[in-house]
Amino acid sequence: MNSIYKRSVVTLGQFIIERQADFPYAKGELSRLLRDIGIAAKIVNREVNKAGLADILGDIGSSNVQGEEQKKLDVFANEQFISALSSGGECCAIASEENEEMIQISSDVSKNARYVVCIDPLDGSSNIDVNVSIGTIFSIYRRVSLSGTIQLSDFLQKGTEQVAAGYVIFGSSTMLVYTTGRGVNGFTLDPSIGEFCLSHPDMKVPKTGTIYSINEGNYVHFPEGVKQYIKYCQVEEAATKRPYSSRYIGSLVADFHRNLLKGGIYIYPATAKSPKGKLRLLYECNPLAWIVEQAGGKASDGYGRILDIQPNSLHQRTPFYIGSSEMVKLAEEYMARFSQK
Ligand code: AHG
Ligand code: MN
Ligand code: MN
Repeated sequence: MNSIYKRSVVTLGQFIIERQADFPYAKGELSRLLRDIGIAAKIVNREVNKAGLADILGDIGSSNVQGEEQKKLDVFANEQFISALSSGGECCAIASEENEEMIQISSDVSKNARYVVCIDPLDGSSNIDVNVSIGTIFSIYRRVSLSGTIQLSDFLQKGTEQVAAGYVIFGSSTMLVYTTGRGVNGFTLDPSIGEFCLSHPDMKVPKTGTIYSINEGNYVHFPEGVKQYIKYCQVEEAATKRPYSSRYIGSLVADFHRNLLKGGIYIYPATAKSPKGKLRLLYECNPLAWIVEQAGGKASDGYGRILDIQPNSLHQRTPFYIGSSEMVKLAEEYMARFSQK
Protein backbone atom coordinates (compact mmCIF):
# COMPACT_ATOMS: atom_id res chain seq x y z
CA MET A 1 0.00 0.00 0.00
CA ASN A 2 1.24 3.50 -0.79
CA SER A 3 2.51 5.06 2.44
CA ILE A 4 0.21 8.04 2.02
CA TYR A 5 -2.69 5.71 2.78
CA LYS A 6 -1.08 4.10 5.80
CA ARG A 7 -2.96 4.91 8.96
CA SER A 8 -0.93 6.28 11.84
CA VAL A 9 -3.83 5.68 14.23
CA VAL A 10 -5.70 2.39 14.54
CA THR A 11 -9.00 2.69 16.35
CA LEU A 12 -10.53 -0.09 18.43
CA GLY A 13 -13.27 -0.52 15.84
CA GLN A 14 -10.78 -0.91 12.99
CA PHE A 15 -8.60 -3.26 15.01
CA ILE A 16 -11.53 -5.53 15.93
CA ILE A 17 -12.61 -5.81 12.31
CA GLU A 18 -9.06 -6.44 11.10
CA ARG A 19 -8.54 -9.17 13.70
CA GLN A 20 -11.91 -10.85 13.36
CA ALA A 21 -10.51 -13.38 10.91
CA ASP A 22 -8.72 -14.85 13.97
CA PHE A 23 -12.00 -15.74 15.68
CA PRO A 24 -12.80 -19.42 15.33
CA TYR A 25 -16.50 -18.74 14.76
CA ALA A 26 -19.17 -16.06 14.66
CA LYS A 27 -16.75 -13.44 13.49
CA GLY A 28 -19.12 -10.52 13.02
CA GLU A 29 -21.09 -11.23 16.16
CA LEU A 30 -18.16 -11.12 18.56
CA SER A 31 -16.84 -8.00 16.84
CA ARG A 32 -20.17 -6.28 17.35
CA LEU A 33 -20.30 -7.35 20.98
CA LEU A 34 -16.85 -5.91 21.66
CA ARG A 35 -17.83 -2.74 19.86
CA ASP A 36 -20.95 -2.42 22.07
CA ILE A 37 -18.81 -2.78 25.20
CA GLY A 38 -16.45 -0.09 23.85
CA ILE A 39 -19.38 2.29 23.34
CA ALA A 40 -20.77 1.71 26.84
CA ALA A 41 -17.26 2.25 28.23
CA LYS A 42 -17.12 5.67 26.57
CA ILE A 43 -20.46 6.66 28.10
CA VAL A 44 -19.36 5.52 31.55
CA ASN A 45 -16.06 7.35 31.03
CA ARG A 46 -17.94 10.57 30.33
CA GLU A 47 -19.75 10.32 33.66
CA VAL A 48 -16.70 9.19 35.63
CA ASN A 49 -14.80 12.18 34.30
CA LYS A 50 -17.27 14.70 35.59
CA ALA A 51 -17.94 12.83 38.79
CA GLY A 52 -16.97 15.79 40.96
CA LEU A 53 -19.37 18.13 39.14
CA ALA A 54 -22.62 16.28 38.81
CA ASP A 55 -24.70 14.85 41.60
CA ILE A 56 -23.37 11.35 41.07
CA LEU A 57 -20.91 10.92 43.91
CA GLY A 58 -21.75 9.05 47.05
CA ASP A 59 -23.92 6.19 48.13
CA ILE A 60 -27.27 5.46 46.60
CA GLY A 61 -28.63 4.15 49.88
CA SER A 62 -28.94 0.54 48.75
CA SER A 63 -26.78 -2.58 48.87
CA ASN A 64 -25.99 -5.08 46.17
CA VAL A 65 -26.38 -8.83 46.42
CA GLN A 66 -23.16 -9.12 48.37
CA GLY A 67 -24.30 -6.63 50.99
CA GLU A 68 -21.88 -4.02 49.68
CA GLU A 69 -22.98 -0.41 49.61
CA GLN A 70 -23.80 0.70 46.07
CA LYS A 71 -22.47 3.98 44.80
CA LYS A 72 -24.46 6.01 42.31
CA LEU A 73 -21.82 5.37 39.67
CA ASP A 74 -21.96 1.60 40.32
CA VAL A 75 -25.64 1.68 39.45
CA PHE A 76 -25.15 4.02 36.50
CA ALA A 77 -22.37 1.91 34.98
CA ASN A 78 -24.42 -1.24 35.46
CA GLU A 79 -27.37 0.34 33.65
CA GLN A 80 -25.19 1.55 30.78
CA PHE A 81 -23.63 -1.83 30.12
CA ILE A 82 -26.94 -3.67 30.42
CA SER A 83 -28.57 -1.22 28.05
CA ALA A 84 -25.73 -1.38 25.47
CA LEU A 85 -25.66 -5.18 25.59
CA SER A 86 -29.46 -5.45 25.40
CA SER A 87 -29.77 -3.26 22.34
CA GLY A 88 -26.66 -4.59 20.57
CA GLY A 89 -28.31 -7.89 19.64
CA GLU A 90 -25.37 -10.24 20.29
CA CYS A 91 -25.72 -10.90 24.03
CA CYS A 92 -28.51 -13.11 25.36
CA ALA A 93 -27.80 -12.82 29.09
CA ILE A 94 -25.68 -10.94 31.60
CA ALA A 95 -24.28 -11.80 35.03
CA SER A 96 -23.38 -8.61 36.88
CA GLU A 97 -21.85 -7.97 40.26
CA GLU A 98 -24.77 -5.63 40.90
CA ASN A 99 -27.55 -8.15 40.21
CA GLU A 100 -28.24 -11.23 42.27
CA GLU A 101 -29.72 -13.23 39.40
CA MET A 102 -28.56 -13.48 35.82
CA ILE A 103 -30.37 -11.10 33.48
CA GLN A 104 -31.97 -12.71 30.45
CA ILE A 105 -32.24 -10.35 27.50
CA SER A 106 -35.50 -10.81 25.72
CA SER A 107 -35.41 -7.93 23.25
CA ASP A 108 -36.38 -8.80 19.67
CA VAL A 109 -32.90 -8.05 18.33
CA SER A 110 -31.34 -10.52 20.77
CA LYS A 111 -33.43 -13.58 20.06
CA ASN A 112 -30.64 -15.31 18.13
CA ALA A 113 -27.84 -14.01 20.33
CA ARG A 114 -25.22 -16.60 21.25
CA TYR A 115 -23.07 -14.92 23.87
CA VAL A 116 -23.32 -14.35 27.61
CA VAL A 117 -21.39 -11.60 29.39
CA CYS A 118 -20.12 -11.51 32.99
CA ILE A 119 -19.35 -8.02 34.21
CA ASP A 120 -18.06 -5.98 37.13
CA PRO A 121 -19.45 -2.66 35.85
CA LEU A 122 -17.43 -0.54 38.25
CA ASP A 123 -14.47 -2.00 40.06
CA GLY A 124 -12.81 -0.19 42.93
CA SER A 125 -15.93 1.75 43.82
CA SER A 126 -14.58 2.80 47.21
CA ASN A 127 -12.18 4.98 45.19
CA ILE A 128 -14.86 6.83 43.19
CA ASP A 129 -15.41 9.66 45.65
CA VAL A 130 -11.70 10.36 46.07
CA ASN A 131 -10.73 10.66 42.40
CA VAL A 132 -8.62 7.51 42.31
CA SER A 133 -8.54 5.10 39.34
CA ILE A 134 -11.45 2.70 38.92
CA GLY A 135 -12.41 0.29 36.16
CA THR A 136 -14.75 -2.15 34.47
CA ILE A 137 -14.02 -5.87 33.95
CA PHE A 138 -15.82 -8.12 31.46
CA SER A 139 -15.77 -11.71 30.27
CA ILE A 140 -17.60 -13.23 27.29
CA TYR A 141 -18.65 -16.87 26.77
CA ARG A 142 -20.65 -18.68 24.14
CA ARG A 143 -23.91 -19.93 25.60
CA VAL A 144 -23.89 -23.71 25.90
CA SER A 145 -27.65 -24.32 26.08
CA LEU A 146 -29.00 -24.65 22.59
CA SER A 147 -32.09 -22.44 22.74
CA GLY A 148 -34.94 -21.20 24.94
CA THR A 149 -34.47 -19.87 28.43
CA ILE A 150 -30.95 -19.15 29.48
CA GLN A 151 -29.52 -21.63 31.98
CA LEU A 152 -27.19 -21.11 34.92
CA SER A 153 -24.84 -23.57 33.20
CA ASP A 154 -24.37 -20.99 30.43
CA PHE A 155 -22.47 -18.92 33.01
CA LEU A 156 -20.87 -21.65 35.09
CA GLN A 157 -18.16 -22.39 32.56
CA LYS A 158 -14.48 -22.63 33.36
CA GLY A 159 -12.36 -19.59 32.52
CA THR A 160 -10.67 -21.63 29.81
CA GLU A 161 -13.91 -21.36 27.82
CA GLN A 162 -13.87 -17.56 27.57
CA VAL A 163 -13.97 -16.21 24.02
CA ALA A 164 -13.07 -12.63 24.93
CA ALA A 165 -12.17 -10.80 28.11
CA GLY A 166 -11.07 -7.32 28.97
CA TYR A 167 -11.08 -4.34 31.24
CA VAL A 168 -11.40 -0.60 31.05
CA ILE A 169 -9.33 1.56 33.37
CA PHE A 170 -10.49 5.08 34.12
CA GLY A 171 -7.14 6.50 35.18
CA SER A 172 -4.95 9.44 34.26
CA SER A 173 -6.06 8.36 30.80
CA THR A 174 -8.81 5.88 29.95
CA MET A 175 -7.74 2.58 28.45
CA LEU A 176 -9.46 -0.53 27.17
CA VAL A 177 -7.39 -3.73 27.23
CA TYR A 178 -8.71 -7.00 25.84
CA THR A 179 -7.88 -10.44 24.53
CA THR A 180 -9.63 -12.94 22.33
CA GLY A 181 -6.93 -15.54 22.89
CA ARG A 182 -4.38 -14.14 20.45
CA GLY A 183 -2.38 -11.89 22.73
CA VAL A 184 -3.38 -8.76 24.60
CA ASN A 185 -3.85 -5.32 23.11
CA GLY A 186 -4.41 -1.99 24.83
CA PHE A 187 -6.22 1.08 23.50
CA THR A 188 -6.13 4.58 24.94
CA LEU A 189 -9.15 6.83 24.64
CA ASP A 190 -8.33 9.98 22.71
CA PRO A 191 -10.92 12.39 24.08
CA SER A 192 -10.45 14.79 21.16
CA ILE A 193 -11.85 12.25 18.68
CA GLY A 194 -13.78 10.09 21.14
CA GLU A 195 -12.07 6.90 19.99
CA PHE A 196 -10.03 4.18 21.67
CA CYS A 197 -6.74 4.10 19.72
CA LEU A 198 -4.21 1.25 19.72
CA SER A 199 -1.44 2.36 22.06
CA HIS A 200 -0.15 -0.88 23.62
CA PRO A 201 0.05 -3.61 20.96
CA ASP A 202 0.83 -7.18 22.05
CA MET A 203 1.28 -6.47 25.75
CA LYS A 204 3.63 -8.74 27.72
CA VAL A 205 4.05 -8.84 31.47
CA PRO A 206 7.70 -9.02 32.62
CA LYS A 207 8.59 -12.50 33.97
CA THR A 208 9.43 -10.96 37.30
CA GLY A 209 9.14 -7.54 38.90
CA THR A 210 9.78 -5.54 42.04
CA ILE A 211 6.22 -4.73 43.15
CA TYR A 212 3.94 -6.63 45.50
CA SER A 213 0.34 -5.51 45.94
CA ILE A 214 -1.74 -6.71 48.87
CA ASN A 215 -3.89 -5.11 51.56
CA GLU A 216 -1.30 -5.50 54.29
CA GLY A 217 -3.72 -4.17 56.90
CA ASN A 218 -5.19 -7.68 56.92
CA TYR A 219 -1.78 -9.23 57.69
CA VAL A 220 -2.82 -10.94 60.91
CA HIS A 221 -5.59 -12.76 59.03
CA PHE A 222 -3.39 -14.02 56.16
CA PRO A 223 -2.44 -17.66 55.70
CA GLU A 224 1.09 -18.46 56.90
CA GLY A 225 2.27 -18.99 53.29
CA VAL A 226 1.32 -15.41 52.37
CA LYS A 227 2.91 -14.01 55.55
CA GLN A 228 6.14 -15.80 54.71
CA TYR A 229 6.01 -14.65 51.08
CA ILE A 230 5.58 -11.02 52.22
CA LYS A 231 8.60 -11.44 54.49
CA TYR A 232 10.55 -12.74 51.46
CA CYS A 233 9.52 -9.59 49.49
CA GLN A 234 10.85 -7.40 52.31
CA VAL A 235 14.26 -9.03 52.73
CA GLU A 236 17.27 -7.23 51.25
CA GLU A 237 19.03 -9.00 48.37
CA ALA A 238 20.72 -7.16 45.52
CA ALA A 239 20.51 -10.03 43.00
CA THR A 240 16.68 -10.09 43.11
CA LYS A 241 16.34 -6.32 43.63
CA ARG A 242 14.78 -6.86 47.03
CA PRO A 243 13.26 -5.42 49.09
CA TYR A 244 10.36 -5.00 46.66
CA SER A 245 8.07 -1.97 46.63
CA SER A 246 4.62 -2.30 48.12
CA ARG A 247 1.91 -0.69 45.95
CA TYR A 248 -1.80 -1.07 46.67
CA ILE A 249 -4.48 1.20 45.21
CA GLY A 250 -7.50 -0.82 46.30
CA SER A 251 -8.91 -0.95 42.75
CA LEU A 252 -8.14 -4.38 41.35
CA VAL A 253 -8.14 -3.10 37.77
CA ALA A 254 -5.64 -0.35 38.54
CA ASP A 255 -3.37 -2.55 40.65
CA PHE A 256 -3.48 -5.23 37.96
CA HIS A 257 -2.83 -2.80 35.12
CA ARG A 258 0.24 -1.30 36.80
CA ASN A 259 1.70 -4.73 37.51
CA LEU A 260 0.94 -5.90 33.96
CA LEU A 261 3.02 -3.05 32.58
CA LYS A 262 5.82 -3.00 35.16
CA GLY A 263 5.93 -6.56 36.48
CA GLY A 264 4.71 -7.50 39.92
CA ILE A 265 2.30 -9.64 41.89
CA TYR A 266 -1.19 -8.86 43.21
CA ILE A 267 -2.55 -11.02 46.00
CA TYR A 268 -6.01 -11.10 47.59
CA PRO A 269 -5.70 -14.24 49.68
CA ALA A 270 -8.23 -16.09 51.76
CA THR A 271 -8.35 -14.35 55.13
CA ALA A 272 -9.85 -15.27 58.47
CA LYS A 273 -12.66 -12.79 57.64
CA SER A 274 -13.17 -13.99 54.03
CA PRO A 275 -12.11 -17.66 54.02
CA LYS A 276 -12.83 -17.92 50.29
CA GLY A 277 -11.13 -14.66 49.44
CA LYS A 278 -12.97 -11.49 48.44
CA LEU A 279 -12.75 -11.30 44.68
CA ARG A 280 -15.34 -12.86 42.39
CA LEU A 281 -14.33 -15.64 40.04
CA LEU A 282 -16.64 -14.96 37.10
CA TYR A 283 -16.31 -11.23 36.55
CA GLU A 284 -13.10 -10.25 38.33
CA CYS A 285 -10.64 -13.15 38.43
CA ASN A 286 -11.30 -15.18 35.26
CA PRO A 287 -11.08 -12.27 32.80
CA LEU A 288 -7.87 -10.90 34.34
CA ALA A 289 -6.45 -14.44 34.62
CA TRP A 290 -6.91 -15.02 30.91
CA ILE A 291 -5.42 -11.63 30.05
CA VAL A 292 -2.37 -12.22 32.23
CA GLU A 293 -1.80 -15.67 30.72
CA GLN A 294 -2.12 -14.23 27.23
CA ALA A 295 0.51 -11.67 28.26
CA GLY A 296 2.86 -14.42 29.50
CA GLY A 297 1.98 -14.21 33.21
CA LYS A 298 0.21 -16.45 35.70
CA ALA A 299 -2.96 -16.47 37.82
CA SER A 300 -3.60 -18.84 40.71
CA ASP A 301 -5.80 -19.37 43.75
CA GLY A 302 -2.61 -20.08 45.69
CA TYR A 303 -2.60 -23.76 44.74
CA GLY A 304 -3.65 -24.05 41.12
CA ARG A 305 -4.70 -22.29 37.95
CA ILE A 306 -7.68 -19.89 38.22
CA LEU A 307 -8.91 -20.74 34.71
CA ASP A 308 -9.31 -24.43 35.65
CA ILE A 309 -11.75 -23.79 38.51
CA GLN A 310 -15.22 -25.17 37.85
CA PRO A 311 -17.61 -22.44 39.03
CA ASN A 312 -20.71 -23.44 40.95
CA SER A 313 -22.37 -20.08 41.56
CA LEU A 314 -22.55 -16.69 39.86
CA HIS A 315 -20.99 -14.67 42.65
CA GLN A 316 -18.46 -17.25 43.77
CA ARG A 317 -15.31 -15.88 45.39
CA THR A 318 -11.77 -17.13 45.16
CA PRO A 319 -8.37 -16.26 46.60
CA PHE A 320 -6.37 -14.55 43.85
CA TYR A 321 -2.64 -14.44 43.07
CA ILE A 322 -1.86 -12.80 39.73
CA GLY A 323 0.97 -11.17 37.82
CA SER A 324 4.52 -11.98 36.73
CA SER A 325 4.90 -15.73 36.24
CA GLU A 326 7.99 -16.20 38.42
CA MET A 327 6.51 -14.22 41.30
CA VAL A 328 3.19 -16.09 41.28
CA LYS A 329 5.03 -19.40 41.04
CA LEU A 330 7.12 -18.54 44.09
CA ALA A 331 4.04 -17.42 46.06
CA GLU A 332 2.46 -20.81 45.24
CA GLU A 333 5.59 -22.52 46.54
CA TYR A 334 5.28 -20.63 49.83
CA MET A 335 1.62 -21.67 50.05
CA ALA A 336 2.46 -25.31 49.40
CA ARG A 337 5.17 -25.17 52.06
CA PHE A 338 3.44 -23.22 54.83
CA SER A 339 -0.31 -23.43 54.15
CA GLN A 340 -1.22 -26.79 52.77
CA LYS A 341 -4.72 -26.90 51.32
P1 AHG B 1 -15.74 -3.66 43.76
O1 AHG B 1 -15.54 -2.18 43.88
O2 AHG B 1 -16.13 -4.09 42.37
O3 AHG B 1 -16.66 -4.22 44.82
O4 AHG B 1 -14.34 -4.37 43.95
C1 AHG B 1 -13.53 -4.02 45.05
C2 AHG B 1 -12.41 -5.00 45.14
C3 AHG B 1 -11.22 -4.71 44.24
O5 AHG B 1 -11.35 -3.74 43.31
C4 AHG B 1 -10.13 -4.32 45.19
O6 AHG B 1 -8.90 -4.77 44.77
C5 AHG B 1 -10.55 -4.93 46.48
O7 AHG B 1 -11.93 -4.98 46.46
C6 AHG B 1 -10.09 -4.11 47.62
O8 AHG B 1 -10.49 -4.72 48.79
P2 AHG B 1 -9.91 -4.26 50.21
O9 AHG B 1 -10.46 -2.91 50.47
O10 AHG B 1 -10.44 -5.32 51.16
O11 AHG B 1 -8.42 -4.27 50.11
MN1 MN C 1 -14.63 -5.36 41.63
MN1 MN D 1 -17.83 -3.45 41.21
